[in-house]
Amino acid sequence: MEFYKLQSGGRMPALGYGTFLATGLELEKSLNIALETGYRFFDTAIGYNNEQIIGKVLNEWISAGKVTREELFILTKLPSFGNRPEEVDTYIKQSLQDLRLDYIDMYLIHLPIGLFKNGKSLYSDMELDKSTDHLKIWKKMEDQVVNGRAKSIGLSNFNIKQVQRILDNCKIRPESLQNENHLYFQSPEVVQFCKLNNIILIAYSSLGMKSFRELIGISWNNKQLPEMLENDVLVKVANKHGKTPAQALLRFINQKGMSVIPKSTNPDRIVENFQIFDFKLDTEDMDALCSLDNGESGRIVRFTMIKNIEDHPEYPF
Ligand SMILES: NC(=O)c1ccc[n+]([C@@H]2O[C@H](COP(=O)([O-])OP(=O)(O)OC[C@H]3O[C@@H](n4cnc5c(N)ncnc54)[C@H](OP(=O)(O)O)[C@@H]3O)[C@@H](O)[C@H]2O)c1
Repeated sequence: MEFYKLQSGGRMPALGYGTFLATGLELEKSLNIALETGYRFFDTAIGYNNEQIIGKVLNEWISAGKVTREELFILTKLPSFGNRPEEVDTYIKQSLQDLRLDYIDMYLIHLPIGLFKNGKSLYSDMELDKSTDHLKIWKKMEDQVVNGRAKSIGLSNFNIKQVQRILDNCKIRPESLQNENHLYFQSPEVVQFCKLNNIILIAYSSLGMKSFRELIGISWNNKQLPEMLENDVLVKVANKHGKTPAQALLRFINQKGMSVIPKSTNPDRIVENFQIFDFKLDTEDMDALCSLDNGESGRIVRFTMIKNIEDHPEYPF
């Protein structure tokens, strides 16, 4: 496993296990396989409704002495319906309780926009809170490091301008930014910005989130693009190294200095996605894959399930 050093003293594994759309018994079984395979970094969020299951499995592993708390790296996020300074304490405490942990390794603001929950469970039913104040929320995020509930803090789905505003006004710097990043949406300017500012970029949906796209009927804007894992150029690069397209995709992102968090609940693919450090893509491979960037038209995630999200003053895209 490769690691990235954190300014706060710890280290973040370069490969983690994503848990979006994974829940119930299927997730419980998958987490056991992931832990047996060697995954120690787990990515979740209140919005994924699975923290209690993750907490149960982690607790079983720690209690059985099969893993120590220090070996684990647990990332979770402040939900957009908690994007108000006075709600940060409440939501991190809820995550700690559900995950059965004393501290979170990396706590992120999930989205730059705020919502009012008003007793609703579906994002599509929640109202926009247009008063979202990043600097006031960030101050409360910093408090979590001071009071020991979080070891480090960061952002997700923020654009460069929004991250820069935090950098210009913070006491504790954001240590990571979790954004969409994959073959068709490579955001080289964000990669460069993070590198310059010593922020670890955690790439999400780096395998193209096929099941989610099928579930809600969204895709990249360029309809001509082939299914990502079947792209001819990618398949050729993968074959050259005796690897699968998914392994080549993950290694591609990793070699650009990012952390990857593929999600799978398939036992074989959980193992497959972990085996990305035993080969290296050469310059020719990297150039060929870089040339497949589609810029904005390759973006998948726009959070359009949130009603009128584009009207929020902090909508990032
Ligand atoms: N911060 C945010 O706003 C945000 C947004 C999206 C995602 N995330 C995080 O990033 C993680 C990863 O992103 P994602 O879940 O959207 O999508 P992803 O990891 O790009 O893709 C997951 C899909 O790929 C399939 N898959 C996994 N491994 C495969 C392999 N080796 N070969 C072929 N297909 C494979 C999975 O199916 P099977 O399960 O059947 O294998 C699933 O359908 C999430 O789980 C979540 O933790 C964060």
